[in-house]
Amino acid sequence: MLLQVDDLAKSFGGVQAVRNVSFTLEAGQRLAIIGPNGAGKSTCFNMVGGQLSPGHGRIVLAGDDITGLPPHLVWAKGVGRTFQVAAAFSSMSVRENVQMALLRQASRLRAFWSPARREAVDRADALLERVGMAAQAERPAAVLAYGDIKRLELAIALAHDPKLLLMDEPTAGMSAPERQALMELVTSIVGEARAGLLFTEHDMGVVFNHADRILVLAGGEVVAEGAPDTIKDDPTVQAIYLGHGFDEATA
Ligand SMILES: Nc1ncnc2c1ncn2[C@@H]1O[C@H](COP(=O)(O)OP(=O)(O)O)[C@@H](O)[C@H]1O
Ligand SMILES: [Mg+2]
Repeated sequence: MLLQVDDLAKSFGGVQAVRNVSFTLEAGQRLAIIGPNGAGKSTCFNMVGGQLSPGHGRIVLAGDDITGLPPHLVWAKGVGRTFQVAAAFSSMSVRENVQMALLRQASRLRAFWSPARREAVDRADALLERVGMAAQAERPAAVLAYGDIKRLELAIALAHDPKLLLMDEPTAGMSAPERQALMELVTSIVGEARAGLLFTEHDMGVVFNHADRILVLAGGEVVAEGAPDTIKDDPTVQAIYLGHGFDEATA
């Protein structure tokens, strides 16, 4: 078992954002968390990534209890996460952004010597090739199109060979063809690496095409869980999305 989440809960002041959330994720699996706005998706996500400390419950990654660890230690245990490229990095080239991520990895392995730096150029180029960004290696990150920033983020998240990749709404702001292309890329990369993928997503087309399991949250609780075909036919889930239809529903 790659990830085991037991009875997670979190409240903010009087608001119970998440309660009784349990799920598991095996290596090579792609699990989508869906649900209406305010359902608790990001809160769950941030507890797994270490950005939020759970009020209750346990998070175990490949046998290691990571509950409440800060983000850099969760990262060091093998959890990669995509973020918007930070403004501070936008003056650097695409390649330098990936090199930075690789050097953080090198320092984790206590390899501070210069060969690590030279090697980082080749490895950065290999990662950029993998995400289809090799031709843009020299460009400043600041001038990238939105879809390309997402691919750069993915290369950065992959720099330390994560066992688990976390993506909170990875395709937000993208056109439909860009969304499918990004998720096809992610699916093939995590498949090759036998990594797990945990993602949230608005676009139900993306969810049903790219998740092999779906966890549905509403009001902070799990209301359904299963394979895409089961979830599509689940009456509770249909009631939540009533009047939208899965294709254009916002999760
Ligand atoms: N930092 C916070 N402080 C106070 N309330 C929060 C905070 N983060 C989330 N919430 C509340 O917790 C609930 C779940 O939010 P969130 O996890 O962001 O939902 P989702 O990602 O599914 O839209 C919402 O009611 C939201 O207003
Ligand atoms: Mg959210």
